[in-house]
Amino acid sequence: MTDTELMARAAAMLEYAYVPYSGFPVGAALLCEDGTVYTGCNVENAAYGSAICAERVAALKAVSEGQRKFNALAVTGRGDQYCFPCGACRQFLYEFAPKLKILVGRGDGTFLTTTLDRLLPNGFGPETLASAAQQA
Ligand code: THU
Repeated sequence: MTDTELMARAAAMLEYAYVPYSGFPVGAALLCEDGTVYTGCNVENAAYGSAICAERVAALKAVSEGQRKFNALAVTGRGDQYCFPCGACRQFLYEFAPKLKILVGRGDGTFLTTTLDRLLPNGFGPETLASAAQQA
């Protein structure tokens, strides 16, 4: 699966986004180490805080199917600006793949390539907890 193909899988999810409140669809596609791709879109809610981002939908689908090793995530919106993952999604993904490759797209189909450790430097992860447990 090429980066362009993974981004196309993310963009294909834009049509399923449920965004009656923001009107801002987001699509995501998460490539697992074994080659499986899990996709997601944002799903909003009348109780606004109960909305969930596209990236976390994709990650939750993957983890709940037994996948924990991720090679790349593509995320995109339809706007002029690149659709970077929000802080909560960065933290959520950091748990499983602190150095994850991330493709960040925008409406014209172009995308940037970065990594999770660049987007979330010095992140809080399982090792942080483990190091405290050793000291206790
Ligand atoms: N959104 C995502 O799906 N992913 C992000 O990383 C940023 C924000 C969604 C949440 C909400 O449905 C809409 O975009 C506007 O914030």
